[in-house]
Amino acid sequence: MLKTLKIQRRLSQIATAGCVVAALAAGFITTAQAQEVKRMSLAEQMIQDMKDGKMAAPGADDHVVQELIIKRSIPITYKYINTLMNTPNAFGPGVACTTCHNSQDPSKSYRGLDLSTCKGIIEGSTEKPKRALFVAGKDPKRDILIRRLRNNRMPLGQSFDNPTYTPSHMLVKQWIDDGAKNDEHFTKNVLPLFKTANAFGPESPACTSCHMSNQEPPSFHELNLTTHAGILLGADSIAKGVDKATKVIIPGNSSLSFVWQHLSEDRMPPGISPSEPRDHPNTTILGAWIKQGAKCD
Ligand code: HEC
Ligand code: HEC
Repeated sequence: MLKTLKIQRRLSQIATAGCVVAALAAGFITTAQAQEVKRMSLAEQMIQDMKDGKMAAPGADDHVVQELIIKRSIPITYKYINTLMNTPNAFGPGVACTTCHNSQDPSKSYRGLDLSTCKGIIEGSTEKPKRALFVAGKDPKRDILIRRLRNNRMPLGQSFDNPTYTPSHMLVKQWIDDGAKNDEHFTKNVLPLFKTANAFGPESPACTSCHMSNQEPPSFHELNLTTHAGILLGADSIAKGVDKATKVIIPGNSSLSFVWQHLSEDRMPPGISPSEPRDHPNTTILGAWIKQGAKCD
């Protein structure tokens, strides 16, 4: 996307240069003025654009979507959503969603999820446990569909073909479902998993190499996975305040707990690099379509 911007910039420069030549030939501008235009380097032009407020901040692609589509509540059509589901690279590098999710028959389509029709998107996964992927009209940020597009599986960089049901995974899941207690079992069997490399798959760093304190940097999302108190406190406790910190454990409910979601759910499309932006403009648009009521016409 950024590349596209750069290419557009190049094209407009070429166009500008062409105009200067044409204007010179027509005698509209002096040679001195033309040289001034010519002298401006790429970097200078960029700085000038910034000064003139013509250039949005980094992440500009989504900025355009925010400013011109989301902020103005432009209705999103199902036709556009259908195109996204059938198009490679629509949410970041990878084959189209419908290559793998194109029927409600779980023997033909992963999770029996049909993303090729509006009804299929709304009904969600038909393989047990059967479930919808969002609630039409509600913010879907934490619901299955959008989090599969935004959340990287942890430990970050973990390959999608590493299993998500190893004994370590099951220990964490069970600990959450049993109430996430700070007992001997936790200290002896669960906490060390977060501190150990390769605990959840080969060639993967320890969780605590990236989530080691409430300070970011160096700790991603101000998440401290080194102690029971840190894990239960959650993420962004300084940015948002202790009371509003993002809970990553819901005691008794692993499926709602972000730690479990991040351990067990692969980002889509499978194999996408975690360095790909999590807020792809088309993910934002898909979210807007859901918020607007996920209308099929
Ligand atoms: C190459 C095949 C493939 C492609 C392409 C693919 N998926 Fe998936 N998807 C899977 C597999 C395999 C699973 C089930 C395993 C898992 O849970 O990680 C899955 C699971 C999901 C789930 C979870 C369903 C549930 O019930 O929890 C969602 C949502 C999803 N995919 C959405 C998408 C979207 C959106 C795209 C397009 C960006 C996409 N997938 C592209 C293979 C694919
Ligand atoms: C190499 C660095 C790295 C490692 C290792 C790592 N994480 Fe993360 N973690 C991140 C980044 C970056 C994010 C930001 C969100 C994303 O990329 O999906 C994150 C986000 C999270 C979140 C979501 C926080 C929120 O605010 O919603 C949880 C939960 C989490 N990680 C748990 C874990 C667990 C558990 C492990 C070990 C199994 C782990 N992480 C290992 C870098 C890492």
